Amino acid sequence: MSITFTVNGKQASVSVPADMPLLWVLRDVLELTGTKFGCGIAQCGACTVHLNGAPIRSCITPISAVQGASIRTIEGLSPDGSHPLQRAWVELDVPQCGYCQAGQLMSAAALLARTPNPTDAEIDAAMNGNLCRCGTYLRIRQAIHRAAEMVAAAAGQGAHPTGSGDPNR
Ligand code: FES
Ligand code: FES
Repeated sequence: MSITFTVNGKQASVSVPADMPLLWVLRDVLELTGTKFGCGIAQCGACTVHLNGAPIRSCITPISAVQGASIRTIEGLSPDGSHPLQRAWVELDVPQCGYCQAGQLMSAAALLARTPNPTDAEIDAAMNGNLCRCGTYLRIRQAIHRAAEMVAAAAGQGAHPTGSGDPNR
């Protein structure tokens, strides 16, 4: 089956079985290996990408479902690692082994796009499906608050204060 869609702003055409998971196409056909395989059954969030701006699990999304759609992967979050979330991730030293972090960032980016100044509860709800074996959850939450602050500062607005607690707990 021939499928045409947009990946990180560029058109892509692939000829693959209709039921091939989008994750396979991204990694093995388009060589966009930033998106990770974790569980393969929509339980961990490592494979999260955006489909028309919404976070999806690419491991269970058949390529036939993305015909004509716009996909964004971690490679497309920013051209140079300067997205506020990426800067906050570095500032707060969020990753440990790093394996889950592309998916974490894509879920966080979708959250900030629809909720620019999220509360702890909104962050926890949005990030609930992204598992981290290294337990970086508190740093992730703090970095999302930090990124919201950066965006608000750039726009001349306030943001919820950074979440309480020691990020290293
Ligand atoms: S690899 Fe897709 S949710 Fe785990
Ligand atoms: S940083 Fe290791 S699994 Fe999340």
